Amino acid sequence: MSVMTPQERAARASQIVSGLSRTQKIGLLSGADFWHTTALPQHGIGAVHLSDGPHGLRVQDGAVDHVGQAASVPATCFPTAVTLASAWDPDLLAEVGAALGREARALGVGVVLGPGMNIKRHPGGGRSFEYFSEDPFLTGACATAMVRGIQSEGVGACVKHFAVNNQESNRMRLDTIVDPRTLRELYLAGFETAVTRAAPWAVMSAYNLVNGEHAGESRTLLAGILRGEWGFDGLVVSDWFAVADRPAGLRAGLDLEMPSSSGAWDARVAAALDAGAVTVAELDAACTRVVGLALRVAEGKAAAGAAPADLAANHALARRAAAAGTVLLSNDGVLPLSGEGTIAVIGAFARTPRYQGAGSSLVNPTRLDTLLDAMRERHGETLAWAPGYDPDTGATSVDLLAQARAAAAAADVVVLVVGLPARAESEGYDRPHLRLPVGQETLVQVVTDANPRTVVVLVNGAPVELGWADRPAALVEAYLGGQAGGSALADVLCGDAEPGGRLAESFPVAGEELPASANFSAHPTQVQYREGPWVGYRFHDTFGVAPRFCFGHGLGYTSFAWSDLSVEGDGTDLTVRVTLTNTGSRAGSEVVQLYVHDVTSSLRRPEQELKGFARIRLELGEAGQVAIGLDRRSFAVYDVATAAWLVEAGEYELRVGASSRDLRASAVVTVASDDVVTPVAAPAGPLASDAEFAALLGHPVPTAPPLWPLTEDSAIGDLRQTWLGRRLYALANLVAGRRLALDEGDANGPMMEAALAEMPLRGVVAYTGRRFGFTHLQAALAVLNRATIRRRR
Ligand code: BGC
Repeated sequence: MSVMTPQERAARASQIVSGLSRTQKIGLLSGADFWHTTALPQHGIGAVHLSDGPHGLRVQDGAVDHVGQAASVPATCFPTAVTLASAWDPDLLAEVGAALGREARALGVGVVLGPGMNIKRHPGGGRSFEYFSEDPFLTGACATAMVRGIQSEGVGACVKHFAVNNQESNRMRLDTIVDPRTLRELYLAGFETAVTRAAPWAVMSAYNLVNGEHAGESRTLLAGILRGEWGFDGLVVSDWFAVADRPAGLRAGLDLEMPSSSGAWDARVAAALDAGAVTVAELDAACTRVVGLALRVAEGKAAAGAAPADLAANHALARRAAAAGTVLLSNDGVLPLSGEGTIAVIGAFARTPRYQGAGSSLVNPTRLDTLLDAMRERHGETLAWAPGYDPDTGATSVDLLAQARAAAAAADVVVLVVGLPARAESEGYDRPHLRLPVGQETLVQVVTDANPRTVVVLVNGAPVELGWADRPAALVEAYLGGQAGGSALADVLCGDAEPGGRLAESFPVAGEELPASANFSAHPTQVQYREGPWVGYRFHDTFGVAPRFCFGHGLGYTSFAWSDLSVEGDGTDLTVRVTLTNTGSRAGSEVVQLYVHDVTSSLRRPEQELKGFARIRLELGEAGQVAIGLDRRSFAVYDVATAAWLVEAGEYELRVGASSRDLRASAVVTVASDDVVTPVAAPAGPLASDAEFAALLGHPVPTAPPLWPLTEDSAIGDLRQTWLGRRLYALANLVAGRRLALDEGDANGPMMEAALAEMPLRGVVAYTGRRFGFTHLQAALAVLNRATIRRRR
């Protein structure tokens, strides 16, 4: 099969759609099952297999689910997005993407559900490990590279979750209130980059609402911004069970509902067509895009074949990527380990690794390396080992502490691995605080007291509070390194690989200091982004609140001298050059980061924003030049009044550095421009008051959607407001627990509880097929809503 141009493909798809009956068309709009689109065998259109994503494949050939509970076939578990982003290396992300693409092809997958690219608004977000960064420029660069990599293998990528899905709690019905400038500059900018530069085959709409509209039903987001402004011509697919109103979604541009709801919505779609609320043109457009995707997948398959993936090579790549994303936070010279003397490895995660996060991204790895084995390979059985804590809970005991203390005291150097247990961070819920388990904090004290030559290694998917950060001789953030994370970590500790990572997020001293903490993961139906753009380094740098470790920070094993900063070009199309010389004792690489500071802005802007970066690798004594390009958008602000990106005339300082707070040189340029930015009053502090927030929104702050009366959008957990509902809820829990074969103490337990409690009632209709249809739901709601006497609140 030859590859068609997009126009040819669209024409072919539309020709096929024109031959379908209305019923067939409606049927095409929802999946055939949990993971496949509906096929049209009579037209030679096969079913497309969509599969998670994002850092490995989760292909289920038995029981199915969207939360990673049932088994999946083995696949390479690459490092999670937080680790990959820390490599600040688009080429590496493209390599990982291509490897994912090859595995996908070999497993018959047509679309990989990833990368995930939501902004880390708050480090407590349960799914932070699955996202790249707090910064949209870095997020956009990572996602663009990964999408290109996946699609280079003839497999589609599906960027997700569009948009503003920045917390897990109540994600399925949470109304996210965000002002238009922050929406554009912070939450959409990364998607914009990936969509316009990498042209993903698909975009997944998010569960949550954005300013009162379900993301998958938002004409503003889908028809207006995604398709209209950015020219996206691919498929928009719902997140699993996210559809709230299928006709409204169709009108807005949501093409495909996933998974199958067994025709539950068909009658409503047909009625909407009869009433003219959905037009035939809208129906046909969605069907054409579903068929277009299937044609594209078939072309990709035909062009690339389905050779088995090289799993050994992919494991090696996963190892390289994990080392590249490992961040050396501090080091008094103890690292790399000299190889002399005795070593104690302490920490249960060295033997029972935490290497990925729970939920829909859970991969069944092809192999699993542990740090303990990798260190024993190098240092033999003489290496001492003590668990220190329980890997499931992080709790320690008097005995475990005593063992750890003895092992530490007897060794010349200690590697102590601590971090978040699987239950502490997961898809489906957020972290209530940013601390490590108390037992591990005690262990850090005990071990560093017993031996100051201790290297503490963190394994976790998001920042933790590190009040004790200056106790160890070195501190390493290994994040969640995937199936080869254990050996990669040994590579870094022993100096076979350099710690290539730089933080793609800020580590606050304490979670409470973050303005987003005032409105995070608390209210069941609404979240107000009153902090506007003051997320991550944008907050720390603008308000002079030093983080524990700043955005962009990360040490290597060598040092560099920076010189000869120069800027060339016209207007906003500039090239910034800087020379680095490796002045240390070994070969190594540095990430040159370019931040733009608007000196004369008439609008409140962040102190500085990342607008470019480049990694350079230099041999000992070698010098090399880095060139980073800037364009109009590097200087622009989103002007809400004119809905345009504008550049103000004036001075801009271009700052280059090894982190957001380790700036090495700067140059001021004067940009000429006729753009007139509309004046906007800025809130006095980092958190907008009612009046200030209303001014930013352009309307009064909306009241949160009520929990009563119950509607199709109410969560199953809301049933607990009535006596009858509490009994129904208990029954639903029981049935779900049995169906998912959950054991007591299952690591996925809390996520499953959250998933059930937060599943909207409409989701039950989709989940049960038509056995419990919308008519049943409406009847049940009428009864439940009458039971007001039994209301608890
Ligand atoms: C997640 C998506 C995932 C989908 C399918 C949802 O719960 O939010 O990221 O792709 O399930 O597993």
